[in-house]
Amino acid sequence: MLYCDAMLKQVLEQGRETADAALERLLPPATQHPTSIHQAMRHSVFAGGKRLRPILCMEAGRLIGAHAAGGALPTGIEDVGAALEMLHTYSLIHDDLPALDNDDLRRGRPTCHKAFGEATAILAGDALQTQAYEVLAQIQCPAEARVAIIREVAHATGTIDGMIGGQVMDLEAEHKKPDLATLEYIHRSKTAALITASAVSGGMYVGASAEDVGRLRTYGQSIGLAFQIVDDVLDVTQTSEQLGKTAGKDTAAEKTTYPALFGVEESIRRADALVDQACAQLDSFGEPAETLKSLARFLVERKS
Ligand code: IPE
Ligand code: IPE
Ligand code: MG
Ligand code: MG
Ligand code: MG
Repeated sequence: MLYCDAMLKQVLEQGRETADAALERLLPPATQHPTSIHQAMRHSVFAGGKRLRPILCMEAGRLIGAHAAGGALPTGIEDVGAALEMLHTYSLIHDDLPALDNDDLRRGRPTCHKAFGEATAILAGDALQTQAYEVLAQIQCPAEARVAIIREVAHATGTIDGMIGGQVMDLEAEHKKPDLATLEYIHRSKTAALITASAVSGGMYVGASAEDVGRLRTYGQSIGLAFQIVDDVLDVTQTSEQLGKTAGKDTAAEKTTYPALFGVEESIRRADALVDQACAQLDSFGEPAETLKSLARFLVERKS
C-alpha cells in the first residue's frame, strides 16, 4: 500500500491529540497553588504547537515495537512524548526572553514573558524542565530503558552538543560572518539533538537493539538539521501570521543561519538531501518505516 497524504495527516492529527491529552494529564492544573506558575506553563504548552517531537517518539516506538504490538502505539509511550514536549516548550520560553531572542509572539500568542512577566517566564521554563524529569522517572518501561532514556534526553538538552550548548553558540555567533562549521554545530546542538533524542527514546522505550537505536539516531540527526534549516528558511519566506512567531527576526538580529550563508534555494536543496539520507537509514525496516519517512518529508515541506 502506498503511503498517502491522508495517512500522514491522520498520524499528525492523532499524534497531536494523544500528546495533548497526555500533557493535560501530566501538567498541574491551572487552579493548583501557586496558580500563576501553572497558568504560565499551560499558556505556553497549550498554544498550538505541532507536537513533532512527541509524534516522532511515538512513531519510532510504534515502528520498533511493531512485532510485539502489531502496529499499535506502545502502552504509555505518550508520557515520554509529553516530557519531550515540556522540554521543548521550556526551550521556547527561554529562547523568547529579552536576554535571548527577545520575541513577543509564539505559537500565535504573546510570549510567556509578555503575558506573565519575565520572572514568571524564567520559572515556568525551569518548572517545565523539572516536571519533564518527574514524568520520565515514572514511565512504564523496564528500569534500564527508563534510565537510558533519561540520560539520552538530559544529554540532548545539555551543554555538550546539546540544546543549551547550541543556544549559547547561537547567541555568541550573532553579528558575525557565518562559517559552515559553526552554523552546523549550532543547528545540530540547539535543535537536532532533542529531535534525535525523541526518535531514539521512542525506540528505547520498546527495547530497541543497539543497531536499531543507531539507525534512529542517524535518522534523527539528519532530519533535525533539516528541520532547523527549514526553520531558518521560513523566517525569511513566511509572514508572522503564517508562522505564529515574528518573521524576519534572524536577519534583524544578524543570526548565523543557512539562508544567510547559502541563500534560500541552496538551503532548501541541502534540507532535501538530508531528508533523503534520513529515509535511506530506514530502508531495512521495509514498509512499516513509511510513517517516519513521510514525517521526515513533512518536516521540510511544512509552511510553519
Ligand atoms: C521551533 O520549533 C523552534 C525550533 C527548534 C526551530 P517548532 O517549529 O517545532 O515549534 P512548535 O512546537 O510547532 O511551536
Ligand atoms: C531556537 O531556534 C531553538 C531552540 C532551542 C528553542 P530559533 O531561535 O530559530 O527558534 P524560533 O525561530 O524562535 O522558534
Ligand atoms: Mg533562538
Ligand atoms: Mg528564537
Ligand atoms: Mg528560528
